[in-house]
Amino acid sequence: MSDILCIYYSRTGNTKKAMEEIAAELGAELAELRDGVDRSGWKGWIRCGLDAVRKNTRPVEPAATERPLGEYRLVILGTPVWAGRESAVMRSFLRDHGAEIKNAAYVITRSSGSRYREVYRQMDLNVPAGHRAAVSLRSGDVGWAFWLEEFLRQVRTVLEGQ
Ligand SMILES: Cc1cc2nc3c(=O)[nH]c(=O)nc-3n(C[C@H](O)[C@H](O)[C@H](O)COP(=O)(O)O)c2cc1C
Repeated sequence: MSDILCIYYSRTGNTKKAMEEIAAELGAELAELRDGVDRSGWKGWIRCGLDAVRKNTRPVEPAATERPLGEYRLVILGTPVWAGRESAVMRSFLRDHGAEIKNAAYVITRSSGSRYREVYRQMDLNVPAGHRAAVSLRSGDVGWAFWLEEFLRQVRTVLEGQ
């Protein structure tokens, strides 16, 4: 049983791909968040955008994790960027459970050239412990593997220092 958790929301698979790679490298447990909302197609896209801009939150379905969140050495949270913000699904999850996390790291994925570092601060608003490492990955970008490796290096340094 791993004491590192990779937990993510992914609408179209980019964040899922990153989190699967990270979990495999670290031997971490992997869990997916769902909010039971149909976010498919163009109607789903608009709904995601509105939820992000309006900061809507809905209850997220409980993710089956092997331990309570507070018992992991590190919780790595993965989310796409929606309208310059964390996804509404991740915001909902952190609003309800962020305070339970002792050590957090963030993985955000996006499609544009901006790195959206402000998203880390938005996520910290619901994670009182703050984050120890973070990375912003652009889907399809040549830098994807480089930045993912750099993130793993940061995470290993955090784990060695614990
Ligand atoms: C509603 C919506 C808004 C988005 N807004 C942004 C944005 O502001 N900036 C950006 O770079 N990408 C934006 N994207 C693109 C996603 O962040 C990007 O494709 C991400 O990798 C998708 O991750 P996923 O496949 O795990 O869902 C947006 C996507 C959606 C659905």
